[in-house]
Amino acid sequence: MDRNYALEFVRVTEMAAIESARLMGRGDEKEADQAAVTAMRKMFNSIDFDGRVVIGEGERDEAPMLYIGEKVGTGKGARLDLALDPLEGTTICANGGNNSISVIAIADEGHFLHAPDTYMEKIAVGPEAANAIDLSAPPTQNLIEIAKAKKTLVENLTVVILDRPRHADLIAEVRRAGARIWLIGDGDVSAAISAAMPNSGVDVLMGIGGAPEGVIAAAAIRCIGGNMQGRLKPRNQSEIDRAAKMGIKDMHKVWSLEEMARGNVMFCATGVTQGNFLDGVRFTPGGCETHSVVMRSETGTVRQVHATHRFDKKPKY
Ligand code: FBP
Repeated sequence: MDRNYALEFVRVTEMAAIESARLMGRGDEKEADQAAVTAMRKMFNSIDFDGRVVIGEGERDEAPMLYIGEKVGTGKGARLDLALDPLEGTTICANGGNNSISVIAIADEGHFLHAPDTYMEKIAVGPEAANAIDLSAPPTQNLIEIAKAKKTLVENLTVVILDRPRHADLIAEVRRAGARIWLIGDGDVSAAISAAMPNSGVDVLMGIGGAPEGVIAAAAIRCIGGNMQGRLKPRNQSEIDRAAKMGIKDMHKVWSLEEMARGNVMFCATGVTQGNFLDGVRFTPGGCETHSVVMRSETGTVRQVHATHRFDKKPKY
């Protein structure tokens, strides 16, 4: 995959972030998401590549744009698959909270797990604990192994978990084990990235979140280093059927990092609202500032991109 695409794709997340950030705190999740989707699609179509959305806004009949299977780009250039979330953390943005991001992961054709829009149980850690996790083992066992790998005590670990009733048992077990917990309202892609990033203050992501978000997070962790495992958690027969339609028959299978995002992958994200590893969009007179990260698995380079945008000079796409 041509490395020059990295700078092309970061423009896409920048525009999606800017457009949704304009609507921060307005209490309208749909409006903020739509603004991000429209901007992202426009920007894609200005780039020379033959893109296909494999993780997107939903299936064709439920998403007017950036639906699964949609072709994007000019059609000239490399054939690439995209796993994207124009606004990850729609509620966060609508409430003006922390850690909403615009995100795209890119891989060669066929290299992302085609995860249906259902739930996924996840565990994600950084490089030091990459060999310490096992989604099939109890959370306590994982915490003991992670602590050993990081040469620390379970009491010193911080576990990030989505604050949901379905996690009552998990939260109780982690508390019994003695680890610290950071409960988040939304946004487990940036939480997984924080778990993998060095010195983020977060050691592990645990719990059930969106399956599409799981694949996007896996792409990021392929670039940063670290490890993640996922197991689909469909809620009903129709989600099982949907998974089967996408080629996944075994609902108990634990998907490895490489099975979720294979080969060379690229990852771009731009902060929408202020976050732990990305600043949010800051509007200035006549423009704005954005903070993005661009990463490639091939080299492991993590680039921070701070951009100053002038609205009077922005081209019309
Ligand atoms: P959206 O951006 O689609 O609102 O998703 C936010 C999110 O918190 C994800 O980060 C997470 O994977 C998923 O929702 C969890 O789903 P639920 O809110 O149904 O528990």
